[in-house]
Amino acid sequence: MMATWLLETPSPENSDLDKSEDAPERAVETPILSILKDFSDGTGLPCMLVDREFGRVLAQSHAELLPYVPPRQASQLVDVTAIEVDILSDELTYFVVPVPAHEGVVITGYVFSSQNVQPPELHLAALQAHGTKQDAEQWLKCVPVCESRVLRRLLECAYREMKLRGRESELQLELDALSQQIDYTYEEISLLHRLTQNLHLSRPSEELAELSVRGLYPLIESSGVGICIENSDHSMRFLSQGRLPFDQMGFARLLARFDQHNWSKPLVKNKLQHTLLGEDFPGLKNIVIVPIGDPQHRRGWIVATNLRGGREFGTVEANLISSIATILGTHIRNIELYDEHDELLVGFVRSLVSTLDAKDPYTRGHSERVALLARCLGQQIGLETSDLEDIYMSGLLHDIGKVGVDDRILAKPGQLTEDEFRQIQQHPMIGYQILCQLRNLAQILPGVRHHHEAFNGKGYPDKLKGEGIPLMARIIAVADSYDAMVSDRPYRKGMPLERLEEIFRRGAGEQWDPRVIEAYFQTRDDFRHLCATYSPSAGNLLRDKSSSRAGINSGRALLKQ
Ligand SMILES: [Fe+2]
Repeated sequence: MMATWLLETPSPENSDLDKSEDAPERAVETPILSILKDFSDGTGLPCMLVDREFGRVLAQSHAELLPYVPPRQASQLVDVTAIEVDILSDELTYFVVPVPAHEGVVITGYVFSSQNVQPPELHLAALQAHGTKQDAEQWLKCVPVCESRVLRRLLECAYREMKLRGRESELQLELDALSQQIDYTYEEISLLHRLTQNLHLSRPSEELAELSVRGLYPLIESSGVGICIENSDHSMRFLSQGRLPFDQMGFARLLARFDQHNWSKPLVKNKLQHTLLGEDFPGLKNIVIVPIGDPQHRRGWIVATNLRGGREFGTVEANLISSIATILGTHIRNIELYDEHDELLVGFVRSLVSTLDAKDPYTRGHSERVALLARCLGQQIGLETSDLEDIYMSGLLHDIGKVGVDDRILAKPGQLTEDEFRQIQQHPMIGYQILCQLRNLAQILPGVRHHHEAFNGKGYPDKLKGEGIPLMARIIAVADSYDAMVSDRPYRKGMPLERLEEIFRRGAGEQWDPRVIEAYFQTRDDFRHLCATYSPSAGNLLRDKSSSRAGINSGRALLKQ
């Protein structure tokens, strides 16, 4: 006997066989059909899946079966909680088995207690259902013979099996849900990890926002995600992925609608289709908005609209977006604080240099020219931007220790006495001691302390030798000597370049590092140009903020070698 799986609801001519006339159409889910098939295969009984409420046959294991439930039994299906076996007439038995985890349906069927019987009740039903005597006979032939005690045992075994399989399915569903949750959590952590990996102060906040919007969009499964963020020039930039029912201007208009919202928590709105907001922004069904930064330092917003699959936004999405907003807000604030701090530092350095220039007006501009020339040499040698910034700053402050030397000695035009020369030689250590208290200037100290060391070890204050002298100091030494020799003084004219270069050639490997002298000869035209065009009012002390921040993240070991 071939098993068939009928999904159709009973035809109109069958509808008078049960009370299903007013029953709504109901699709039968594949898992329930599998249960019916397993039950029939396991017991060898043709059977039907019946709607409890309306007594309607939803599916049957064999085409020959009559989709018929006796009216009395149909009316009691809603109350069935355990296996029921009813003897309908002399030889016909009707059975009902609840389906675990599927409250709305039961499995039913018929058996005969002995062969070659044709109960009139069923025969009549068969004729009404199929219309022909042959169909009725076919159906009656497929009803098996089974003694009711054996039938009950058989049904109990099958019921237990169904319960076990049901539990197995539930566990599988739980496992699937758990796996999905783990996948989501993993993706969420990966995104947060990627963002934290990019929290360098040198990375502009716009780039981090771009990374965030691209990561959030696939993760949150909404129709669109947008980030409105304040640029470094205080203009606003709107980044988006997917489809949002508004542009930047529209978003500003939408935000204005929530100006009474307490922004210490995310704004989550669902079911917006038939609200005033939904009408103003066609296509807007649900939305989450989270601010970036605290109320005193508001720097933008993250918005997501219309969760896919008709779902609604909840705490999962709001928490994820809040985490991203916190990272972005903290990053932006850190950049601002660094820049504020850097401006303070530049102001402090400017004051120190002005103090030195005021003390010795004849050498005015020397510090800044040394800074520019040293940076030029560093570029020629191939140092990184952050190292060049340090060299520049160290060049500016290399002689700051002269503030601790007697003005008369500094301004003395003639030959210095031995004692006066000893006092002058104190200035690198005095400068070092002034600046070493400032943690943020630690990287420039080697240039300040060691710019009078000689490559042959005969310099001061520490008599360091060769590459034992920090590279920063070896570079500043050449720049310092160049500017001192070519500049005019009240008591002498600046040295001709030919003579200076002869001194450099002879002093390479003795006074100066040959590598730095070589760099000078490669960049001598730039040196001349720098000195010729230098003006103390050119504002060279202002630093480029992003390259300055970049210095924080790169190693400066090279300059301390
Ligand atoms: Fe010096």
